[in-house]
Amino acid sequence: MSAQIIDGKAIAAEVRQGIKERVEQRIAEGRRAPGLAVVLVGSDPASQVYVGSKRRGCKECGILSLAHDLSADTSQEKLLSIIDELNADPTVDGILVQLPVPEHIDEEAVIERIAPGKDVDGFHPYNIGRLTIQMPTLHPCTPRGVMTMLAHTGVNLEGLDAVIVGASNIVGRPMTLELLNARCTVTVCHSRTKNLEEKVRGADLVVVGVGRPEMVKGDWIKEGAIVIDVGINRLESGKLVGDVEFESAKERAGWITPVPGGVGPMTVATLLQNTLDAAERRDD
Ligand code: GUN
Repeated sequence: MSAQIIDGKAIAAEVRQGIKERVEQRIAEGRRAPGLAVVLVGSDPASQVYVGSKRRGCKECGILSLAHDLSADTSQEKLLSIIDELNADPTVDGILVQLPVPEHIDEEAVIERIAPGKDVDGFHPYNIGRLTIQMPTLHPCTPRGVMTMLAHTGVNLEGLDAVIVGASNIVGRPMTLELLNARCTVTVCHSRTKNLEEKVRGADLVVVGVGRPEMVKGDWIKEGAIVIDVGINRLESGKLVGDVEFESAKERAGWITPVPGGVGPMTVATLLQNTLDAAERRDD
């Protein structure tokens, strides 16, 4: 049996359409458009591509996008003072500093400087803490996007054995919290995990975000399992592949996300959703 494909591109378009309508409604009611400040330090090519798609997404949904493109030698002090200005700016609802920042800048200091109510990445310890105790406010984008995709499958997640491969702050850890809050039984695997294959073989739901091309083999996937592939890796041939062997996994899974066109488009759509949520919370 071949898996049903979870079409991230189509779901993301639906999410963006919903945001656009809510923004139009705000404006019709005489309220302002939400504003997102996107800060890029340096000229890392991958970051430039991500930031470009975030800014285009804003435009499409009627969200104001404020660009701060800073040179790679910008001091930490300067970056923190820009964040302070954005925290105080009433037209700014969301602040996103694209990661990674150059080595001379302390990433934790940057994350902690952003006002929690404007932290549309959901990375501030305040927002992660609230997610941990089931009182979420702003959720990290990629895991929230994955939850939206899972909701589209219509599968009841309660009691599923979920295995997460990768324990990063951006994907694995917040994904663990989201799935725990959805009442899955969650196992988190990382580079020191013993018998990874065995753990994946037992999973009803697998989420992989490690950045290693096709490291999860298709024949590890349990028949009928849901497979969410967060990885995007470019092979030397130029081909884009995920962290899961797609073709063989598709033959066993019940549901699977493709790469590209799976989780990737959901991350940007969810950022826009977070920005609108932040604006609506600030209006209350
Ligand atoms: N770099 C890679 N992913 C992300 C993300 O979700 N947010 C930010 N700010 N930087 C990233």
